[in-house]
Amino acid sequence: MQLFIEKDYLAMSKKAAQIFADEIRKKPNLVLGLATGSTPMGTYEELIRMHKEEGLDFSQVVSFNLDEYYGLTPDNPQSYNYFMFENLFNKINIKRENIHIPDGTVKDVENYCKEYDIQIEKFGGIDIQLLGIGVNGHIGFNEPADELVVGTHLTDLTEDTIKANSRFFESIDQVPTKAITMGLGSIMKAKKILLLANGKNKAPIIAKLIKGGVVTTQNPASFLLIHPDSTIIIDEEAASEL
Ligand code: GLP
Repeated sequence: MQLFIEKDYLAMSKKAAQIFADEIRKKPNLVLGLATGSTPMGTYEELIRMHKEEGLDFSQVVSFNLDEYYGLTPDNPQSYNYFMFENLFNKINIKRENIHIPDGTVKDVENYCKEYDIQIEKFGGIDIQLLGIGVNGHIGFNEPADELVVGTHLTDLTEDTIKANSRFFESIDQVPTKAITMGLGSIMKAKKILLLANGKNKAPIIAKLIKGGVVTTQNPASFLLIHPDSTIIIDEEAASEL
């Protein structure tokens, strides 16, 4: 695991975008694993700038998103489908048919999730996976638990996550209680993983992850410590308890 501590959010975002851009230039049909949340927004802005000003080409890129709230339609402004089109896809030249985001409205969830993992494999697996981290260590929506699920699956969100994510909703009762998420196995199969964290509220979990030096299902992000090619990029605030 490689750790980079950058001065601030902007520097963290630029560093992450640069890594993505270098990989896309090396392999134009790169398979990206993408994340939502406030953390990756700056990275997406920088990638959009690189597309517009430096001709960074997404025409052959394939993407798979990590997760989606269960019960939200893609046109719901709170859905991760909506987020991705607003914050990235509508502003770059990725092809619609190359975009994969879990559908929060499917009925046969079990088969749908199996098929999602099959699709990832069909494209040769994820080349580079972007991750944020929840204040409780969740990645995607893999919440701390005694056991973690390997494949893509439907999961219950914890109280902590519902509370943390309620800031994007009008009230806490509007936050969905379930989500479809790639599993720990789907994430760990990515050839390269990039986890970003910024701000003081992420300092305790970052300290626990890096100083702890242990792998535990109670901190799903800790599995990055044993991934062969994982990079953690954080800003000085998130590094403040190291
Ligand atoms: C959400 C998402 C995660 C994200 C995390 C942190 O619940 N499911 O993929 O990394 O919480 O969000 P933020 O970046 O807004 O702090």
